[in-house]
Amino acid sequence: MDKQNKVPIFDTLLGHAKRNVTSFHTPGHKNGKGIDPVLKEVTGDGLYKFDVTVFDEVDSLHDPVGPIKKAEELMAQAYGVKHSLFLVNGTSVGNIAMFLSACDPGDSIIVSRSSHKSIMGGIILSGVWPIWLQPTIDQNLDIIFNSTYEEIKQALEMYPEARAVFLTSPTYNGVATEVKKIADLCHRKGKILLVDEAHGPHLKFNDKLPMSAVDAGADLCVQSTHKILSALSQGSVLHHNSKLVDTNRVKKIVSMLQTTSPQYLTLASIDLARRQAVLHGKEMFDKVIEAAEWARKEINEKIPNMRCLTKADIKGRNFDLDLTKLTINVTKTGLSGYEVDEILAKQYNIQVDCSDTFNLIAIMGIGSDMDDVQKLVSALKEISKKYKGTQKNWILKIPSLATEMVMTPREVFLSHDIKKIPLAKSVGHVSAQVLTPYPPGIPVVIPGERISKEICDYLVEMASKGIRISGQEGDILKMVKVFAN
Ligand SMILES: Cc1ncc(COP(=O)(O)O)c(C=O)c1O
Repeated sequence: MDKQNKVPIFDTLLGHAKRNVTSFHTPGHKNGKGIDPVLKEVTGDGLYKFDVTVFDEVDSLHDPVGPIKKAEELMAQAYGVKHSLFLVNGTSVGNIAMFLSACDPGDSIIVSRSSHKSIMGGIILSGVWPIWLQPTIDQNLDIIFNSTYEEIKQALEMYPEARAVFLTSPTYNGVATEVKKIADLCHRKGKILLVDEAHGPHLKFNDKLPMSAVDAGADLCVQSTHKILSALSQGSVLHHNSKLVDTNRVKKIVSMLQTTSPQYLTLASIDLARRQAVLHGKEMFDKVIEAAEWARKEINEKIPNMRCLTKADIKGRNFDLDLTKLTINVTKTGLSGYEVDEILAKQYNIQVDCSDTFNLIAIMGIGSDMDDVQKLVSALKEISKKYKGTQKNWILKIPSLATEMVMTPREVFLSHDIKKIPLAKSVGHVSAQVLTPYPPGIPVVIPGERISKEICDYLVEMASKGIRISGQEGDILKMVKVFAN
């Protein structure tokens, strides 16, 4: 582990920048000389010397033999996996790569409907049959839970032909499922476990946090190093730790999906984020957790009409909570999460990561401190006093999604045999589009799936209430695209 204080990509770029090399390579700004002064005034000019292209000294992301190879090896060592691959298009590209690496066209894969939208790219490109798991909704907490061990076990019994299981853990709310039990089950049955751990690059570094999927035994696991650790945006890592998935296939696929002009500053930041997490992650996250726990307690004890998700709330369901995540339910104020989000942004200069009808999700990271949470809590206290309204009659619900997959999403995507019909007449037709009402942000219709009466009625009701449905064409959902068979 003593090598963990090395940062090969950063050191190489720093050495290169110091030598003031005359650039006849891309990018066109030439070490920052051509950057618009307005931008340089804000950023300073130091960083542009790090914005280079592939040449021997700085190594190639696609065929690494130098500093990038060393940095990826150090990353793999830090997480205790066989290989780690740096990604410059976030976990979104990592999810697509996991589908393509684990499955062949025609394979089936068990996957929750509440997965991140990037998985549709993985499903379409890989040509798999998705076996959808219905997400569980908790109408007391107003949140959606990820798949449990029992649900995966049942799905594997019903669909023994499934090649792989795709899991998201922790969720946006920080709820982590029993990945170890699920990994052991998958491996006993010879199935591949893919984990979207976008929200968990830090789990490995502090034992007050849920177990990371890399320790739990995931075959492939992708993490957004930029979300919680200190990498710059788009910096993610795909970890490979499997006997079931061929490393060279993973490398080839990742290479096919990534730009040939990666942002070296992002690569250097992933390298530095790893060193920082290994050397200081424990103390840094002790402080972040302490601040988050203070905020949680303060909200729950002193703000009567708001409630912050605690470990106790999910106890008994075999879930664990990433204590750094603050999911704050605001419905008792009479305001929606969206409204409180807007008030925080406009009146208090505080921006949360996201909100929904019910909750705010305040994401803390390695750079968060007590001062930040004090500002948030004090703003929430004021809002809670100022906007004392009556709780609205909102209910988090989704229809039964267990509909029949008639074609793979890829077949529909490639087909030109598509027509538009009125939504009200769509029962029995095979959908050619994704339709996702917000809330709860779960696709109720997927390409290749037969539209049931329940789903049709649900969409008609949503549309009549003017609820925005992602995927709709026009202001109101009147027509749907279906396969013209
Ligand atoms: C669960 C989950 N997976 C994947 C992603 C995509 O990650 P990235 O932004 O790193 O591409 C997100 C983004 O919010 C996410 O919440």
